[in-house]
Amino acid sequence: MAQSQRISQQPSQLVDSYGRVHRDLRISVTDRCNFRCSYCMPPEGLPWLPREEVLTFEEIVRVARLLIDRFGISSIRLTGGEPTVRAHLPALVGQLASLGVELALTTNGATLRLLADDLAKAGLNRINISLDTLDPERFRNLTHRDSLPQVLDGIDAACQAGLHPVKINTVVMRGANDDEILDFAEFGRSRGVEVRFIEFMPLDAESNWEDQSVVGVDEIVSRIGSVYPLEPLAQGSEPASRYRYLDGQGHVGVIASVTRSFCHLCDRVRLTADGQFRNCLFATSELDLRALLRGGASDDEIAAAMAGSVAEKWAGHQIGQVAFIRPRRSMSQIGG
Ligand code: 5AD
Ligand code: SF4
Repeated sequence: MAQSQRISQQPSQLVDSYGRVHRDLRISVTDRCNFRCSYCMPPEGLPWLPREEVLTFEEIVRVARLLIDRFGISSIRLTGGEPTVRAHLPALVGQLASLGVELALTTNGATLRLLADDLAKAGLNRINISLDTLDPERFRNLTHRDSLPQVLDGIDAACQAGLHPVKINTVVMRGANDDEILDFAEFGRSRGVEVRFIEFMPLDAESNWEDQSVVGVDEIVSRIGSVYPLEPLAQGSEPASRYRYLDGQGHVGVIASVTRSFCHLCDRVRLTADGQFRNCLFATSELDLRALLRGGASDDEIAAAMAGSVAEKWAGHQIGQVAFIRPRRSMSQIGG
């Protein structure tokens, strides 16, 4: 009797067939963005999701609560598109924070002067701000917006709001901004923020990515280290390889998604703005949670569907190999 009860219970962890336990949830709250980063979106934008296809806060919170209660998910990151263009974001942050998980946000930073305080008060713990150039002219070309001053001010606002540690995400693209690696290192050191360089991945809307556009971790670290000596830190479950400046002026990280795939350590699942559950950033299929949520499915049914999706997770992406298949959707539609 006791045994049959146990069998009918949900598993208490989200484990896949490679033994990876999933504890991190990324929620995209909108596919819209106020920027047009050339590697992500065409200048005219993408066809936005109709409003009714986007999950409501109630639906998002139901999924998050289920993942926390049933499967021990312990951290949530909100992404987009640009999450701060979703109306009333601090209200969602408040609802998720009350579930008792570590809560983080990835943003382009342009509206943080207005929002950072409200987000921090609502319970946001950490923030990552995306910034690919420190040059105003180049910023305009890369993002099709003139907002570098607002982003820099947004970084200050995040620090002032106490959202420590503020991290800066910088996608490095050869020929576009790789000459700024040292400038970014100095920016991080002087402002007391942790810069994390990201290897360019083949997820761009215009398919400009090619092998040669990737600047790998070894090159990034040696360029910085030749001026500001670095010491590697032990890698935990987070994807960034982190380094400490030997003179004590903080840390720098590299997310080597391409040259040193960290798929074997992956502990992430994703929920897109339109309610699709993805077991990998590069997944080529999705679970339609929105249909379940709106079709009257029970918590048990939704939990079982998510566990089933994770059980089917593949070993990892195969960027650079013949078998690699580019996802149908770009980063802004999946959630970073
Ligand atoms: N490769 C690497 N990083 C990317 N991002 C968006 N598109 C790509 C890509 N093709 C980054 C954004 C942001 C985060 C959400 O993902 O710059 O920092
Ligand atoms: Fe917007 Fe981020 Fe895409 Fe840039 S990379 S257009 S900031 S979603």
